[in-house]
Amino acid sequence: MANLEPNDELFDKIVNLCKRRGFVYPGSDIYGGLANCWDYGPLGAQLKKNVKDMWWRTMIQEREDMVGLDAAIFMHPRTWEASGHVGHFSDPLVDCKKCKQRFRADELTPDSECPAGGTHDLTEVRQFNLMFETQMGVVQNETSRVYLRPETAQGIFVNFANVQTTTRRKLPFGIGQIGKSFRNEITPRRFTFRTREFEQMEIEYFVRPEDSDRAYKEWVKTRHNWYLDLGLNPEKLRLREHEKDELAHYAKGCTDMEYFFPWGWGELEGVANRTNYDLSRHAEYSGKNLSYFDPDTEEHVVPYVIEPSGGVDRATFAFLVDAYCEDTAISAKGKEETRVVLRLDPRLAPIQVAVLPLLKNKPELVAKAKELERTLRRHYLVDFDERGQIGKRYRRYDEIGTPICLTVDFETIEDGNELFGTVTVRDRDTMEQERVAIDDLRIYLDEKLKIE
Ligand code: GAP
Repeated sequence: MANLEPNDELFDKIVNLCKRRGFVYPGSDIYGGLANCWDYGPLGAQLKKNVKDMWWRTMIQEREDMVGLDAAIFMHPRTWEASGHVGHFSDPLVDCKKCKQRFRADELTPDSECPAGGTHDLTEVRQFNLMFETQMGVVQNETSRVYLRPETAQGIFVNFANVQTTTRRKLPFGIGQIGKSFRNEITPRRFTFRTREFEQMEIEYFVRPEDSDRAYKEWVKTRHNWYLDLGLNPEKLRLREHEKDELAHYAKGCTDMEYFFPWGWGELEGVANRTNYDLSRHAEYSGKNLSYFDPDTEEHVVPYVIEPSGGVDRATFAFLVDAYCEDTAISAKGKEETRVVLRLDPRLAPIQVAVLPLLKNKPELVAKAKELERTLRRHYLVDFDERGQIGKRYRRYDEIGTPICLTVDFETIEDGNELFGTVTVRDRDTMEQERVAIDDLRIYLDEKLKIE
């Protein structure tokens, strides 16, 4: 059984690694940061892109019943009236008159301590709408008000008829998209877990009403398996089905996928059966017919929708946390050493292959390694490093999750040597080394890196 105790020390170590190695930096760092905003550095940007690419590939490209979309962040303000966000997308807010801080009322307990001493002196609860507002165009008035979308889903609903007619899809079919969403969260926190600007990967899967229960169950399974296939520890991933009184009035079912983060369980994704609520509301508010004509039964139906809605930043962080290991090993000198290794699935690793000349001061080794690097860059995520002892370089790549290191040494370039034309291949997880001919590297690496 995994040890499922919250672990602050582990959390600090991972946040520290993120900054030190260029996964995630505090946003606007040179200005002292902007509260709860984070910038993905070179490794983090690639890791996040790999997560999105895997989602797009497996959920859209490889499925004949799915298509993709990239809708605008700004949408007609009526969208948010129809969706219910203008009226109901709010959290209960209270202010403390003593410490002047704001809280989500549902996160305070009667014995929550006030930093100004004693317990809080709270105002009445008021509803705080989480949508960010801005003005579109040069004239600022009521009609120029627009919102930064709080979810990508509505971009899919308003395009349902466009997509269905242009692609001539029959039910069931789904539309997926990945993009930024914005919520003025009252208490953003826990690194990239809850922020005001984040990315979502959302699917709206349209079905005939009588098929919705089956499709809902299938999507829960599909999305659960997606996280497992990419390596999340099954003991740290659980499904939580919502109780009837937790469901929105229009929803028929909802299951959250939760991961055990260093502070405890947190939601990664929700899969909901939203019935025909969204399409019906948009039909009502836009005056457009959003029903689907079924050529087989010759009837018009407003499709039900199953919505698997995940957070890119949360998934990325979960993969990072899950991959983090500290191994202890006995060094060649007999000393006990700790090795930090990110056991990321090779399809997610931000650098898949590191090419290393054994020695920096031997131009012939560096030149051959550079040549190899250039060739491999066309096919894999490759890095080159000539600095420091080879053992230390291996450790640096372990720490960022690089599955394979290739070392170019004298045998590689010495004509007549029986190892001529081969490199040392070192495996991140087992630390085992073997010689592989450069000519065979593509086949070898494709297999090791799970490239199909
Ligand atoms: N369209 C449905 C919808 O947006 P949600 O549960 O509000 O549902 C879906 O959001 C996912 O988006 C969550 O499971 C989470 O992964 C991510 N998410 C939501 N709010 C977030 C925030 N403030 N910061 C980071 N990710 C967030």
